[in-house]
Amino acid sequence: MGVRFSLGALRLAYARSVQAQFSKRLFSLSAGTIINSFNNMNFFNILEILILFVLFIWFVFFIIQAYNIVFRGYAPFVSTKRKHLKNIFDNANIKDGQTIYELGCGRAGFLQFARKNFPASKLVGFEYAFFPYFIAKIQNWIKKSNLDIKKKNIFKIDLSEADTVYCYLNEDMMKKLKPKFLSELKPGSQVISLEFKIPDMEAEKIINKKIYLYKF
Ligand SMILES: C[S@@+](CC[C@H](N)C(=O)[O-])C[C@H]1O[C@@H](n2cnc3c(N)ncnc32)[C@H](O)[C@@H]1O
Repeated sequence: MGVRFSLGALRLAYARSVQAQFSKRLFSLSAGTIINSFNNMNFFNILEILILFVLFIWFVFFIIQAYNIVFRGYAPFVSTKRKHLKNIFDNANIKDGQTIYELGCGRAGFLQFARKNFPASKLVGFEYAFFPYFIAKIQNWIKKSNLDIKKKNIFKIDLSEADTVYCYLNEDMMKKLKPKFLSELKPGSQVISLEFKIPDMEAEKIINKKIYLYKF
């Protein structure tokens, strides 16, 4: 009985030590393989991995955008052209010191343009999608600008502080935003919309048949 027990214990101890040695070897082998493959990498391998990584991020962004466009009716990520920005700032009654909001700001091109002419203004951008929000933040940091970029859904923000609101969205979103504009915007404030009208509301000014200015 005693011999049988000690034989069993011996077998168990042997099995454990073999298992420990095996896992140790397996770990050092896989760690070695990873380190070796990093050592053997040249500039082009690293470039390939970086390109694949960027493509993967674009793909994820594309899928999320497609979902939001198709199922939630949100506007896609397209930036306002510089010529339109110039037209808006030449024609709209925007003054330094105003609080200016860009709804669905993307890279916040409108606010970056405003920053140059209105240093005393409070410039706030709202963007729900991570990728454009991230780009806007990076650009803000590089240009050392004072834009306040918030990662928020524009249907869940309060507009009561804004003097000027800029939108480049879509027809459906302008329709849904209309009651929000009417109930939250203060008297004297303005909404500037590129391409898309506020339905059943007369624009105070239309610039180049594309830019609609509304007074509240
Ligand atoms: C046509 S782009 C305009 C970008 C920028 N305003 C410009 O003019 O260059 C519309 C932007 O609105 C964002 N967007 C769409 N729906 C939104 C929502 N509900 N809340 C916040 N941002 C939204 C999109 O991600 C996209 O970046």
